[in-house]
Amino acid sequence: MVFLNGEFIKKNQASISVMDRGFLFGDGVYEVIPAYNNTLFRLDEHLSRLQKSLDAVKINNPYNNQEWQQILTQLLVFNSQENQSIYLQISRGADNKRKHSFEHLTPTVYIESNPLIPKSKSTLMAGFSAITQTDIRWNRCDIKATSLLANVMYSQQAKDNHVEEVILHRDQQITEGATSNVFMIKNSTLFTHPTGSHILSGITRDLVLESAKACQIPIQEVAFSTQDLNTADELWISSSTREIMPITQVDKKPINQGQVGQYWACVYQHYQTLKHA
Ligand code: PDD
Repeated sequence: MVFLNGEFIKKNQASISVMDRGFLFGDGVYEVIPAYNNTLFRLDEHLSRLQKSLDAVKINNPYNNQEWQQILTQLLVFNSQENQSIYLQISRGADNKRKHSFEHLTPTVYIESNPLIPKSKSTLMAGFSAITQTDIRWNRCDIKATSLLANVMYSQQAKDNHVEEVILHRDQQITEGATSNVFMIKNSTLFTHPTGSHILSGITRDLVLESAKACQIPIQEVAFSTQDLNTADELWISSSTREIMPITQVDKKPINQGQVGQYWACVYQHYQTLKHA
């Protein structure tokens, strides 16, 4: 079952107008919200980021937080899987003429939920590879917009190169991954790009920082460079669907001799406790 504009219906019965601006312009915003043990994880944080994205592009929020919670909880029940990943999208809606500027329209709300199967610790311990690329995206990466063409191109490059992620850099400074935030351990300190217009402020990013504090790892929300990767002790990526993944090879060069590090192990362990708290 999916949710479309106020109704729970079968996915193959869900359809929208070709005049929808989400389709014509990628004019919409979205969220991906994990649910563990049938419970939405960090819902308030996701809804607050959703509100920020909506405000930034001037789309009215069709529901209040209580209504969102009811809709999403109902969807979890319909899909009856212990762990799920909710995809929620709000487009500006359908107009009767294609033009770039917009009128006040009724937003289109589409939500689906899919099984979420986090990778096991033993799978993660094998480590993952990444490649680097210049970050060509726009200057509002903080908006979780559905117009994701650059990210789509990067993700396809990752797939074609048989790597987990493309790590992006702007002026040689690592910003984030095509679909994740990026962290480096160097000199026993955790580095990650500060929030702002060049990265998406990941909900998992905040949880990584919270977990790093619990592991007593000093944190520097300071950008690090592509050069730093050559001497990094650990490298991780994070997202709501991937949790925290250790990257042990970048551009075919090993990080920490290709071994998953001890800091990752602590942060990962703490993150698991937060999930089940
Ligand atoms: N993407 N940065 C980018 C560019 C992302 O697309 C994502 C997540 C993140 C991590 O954000 P969070 O921790 O809130 O999931 C950072 C989602 C999962 C997606 O597009 O499917």
